Amino acid sequence: MRTFKNLASLILLVFGFACSVSAAPLPRIHILATGGTIAGVGASSTGSAYKPGQLGIDQLLEAVPEINKVAEVTGEQIFTIASQDMTDVDWLKLAQRVNQLLARDDVDGIVITHGTDTMEETAYFLNLTVKSNKPVVLTGAMRPATSLSADGPLNLFNAVVTAGAKESEGRGTLIVLNGIILGARDATKTNTLSVQTFQSPNSGILGYVHDGEVNYQLKNEKLHTSQSVFDITNRTTLPKVGIVYGYANADPVLVEALINAGYEGIVHAGVGNGNIHKQVFPALIKARNKGIQVVRSSRVPTGPSTLDAEVDDQANRFIAALDLNPQKARILLMLALTETNDWEKIQEMFLVY
Ligand code: DGL
Repeated sequence: MRTFKNLASLILLVFGFACSVSAAPLPRIHILATGGTIAGVGASSTGSAYKPGQLGIDQLLEAVPEINKVAEVTGEQIFTIASQDMTDVDWLKLAQRVNQLLARDDVDGIVITHGTDTMEETAYFLNLTVKSNKPVVLTGAMRPATSLSADGPLNLFNAVVTAGAKESEGRGTLIVLNGIILGARDATKTNTLSVQTFQSPNSGILGYVHDGEVNYQLKNEKLHTSQSVFDITNRTTLPKVGIVYGYANADPVLVEALINAGYEGIVHAGVGNGNIHKQVFPALIKARNKGIQVVRSSRVPTGPSTLDAEVDDQANRFIAALDLNPQKARILLMLALTETNDWEKIQEMFLVY
């Protein structure tokens, strides 16, 4: 009887060992923490007053021990700011660090914790400057870490799951919040308070992350990451591009200010299909005649600013933003200006990125 028991124990031991050895290795995910509400601390668990960027990456990870079941996680606090304060220098530092990490064989993906206010901008900048097909996923929170029903911990867990999923490779930079996966190019913050704030109003979300699994429905058809021509490896600055908002009785004074400040590009967030007030039009032509690029985007949340609708882009040498919102159009124009100042070549870039 004893021999039989010993044999059964031995078989179970060998089977258990075999299972542990045969289990697929966990993905190695590196987290770059930048601040934001996900690291925020509030005066109370139900109040709205809080300070962003108070907690470090170690404290964020302590709140989600389950992450260790789905990935081998390393991390660093690359900086600690509220995302409304992001600068070109921050973007360049972040993109260069991401490329350095993704070039390593022992890094399978990156998660970036970030404020939600400008997350879509950083995500699109990385979508155009990361030189790898490995997943890069941005996440954040709409409620501070000290809040009742804080959304940060599950968002961080889901972002790590998404970054570790083979299905996430080659899709460009992603945003994960509240269980949905969005593409960096089309994602935008649509609500100042809701945990479901990120949407892609023109193209729809790419998929879902739920119960430790990702499930994609869409693929981004525009060029991104390793398909992109933009190289910021050795850059320490970016071209200055500003945005001017269109509205009834608009005054050209803001366009004039950008011209006088030496800006290389102006994005006009027009009304309707990227239309421009007659009082502002001459100032934009003046900008063009000084070699400043002008992109027609729109303040309207959905639909493209199309070529040559009410505005003759060919005659005025304007660039149509198509379905990039003003803040995204600004990023593409900044990077386009690192390659060329030819408005027709830049228009071609707006057709493919
Ligand atoms: N200060 C805002 C930011 O850092 C808070 C918004 C958030 O992170 O959700 O973007």
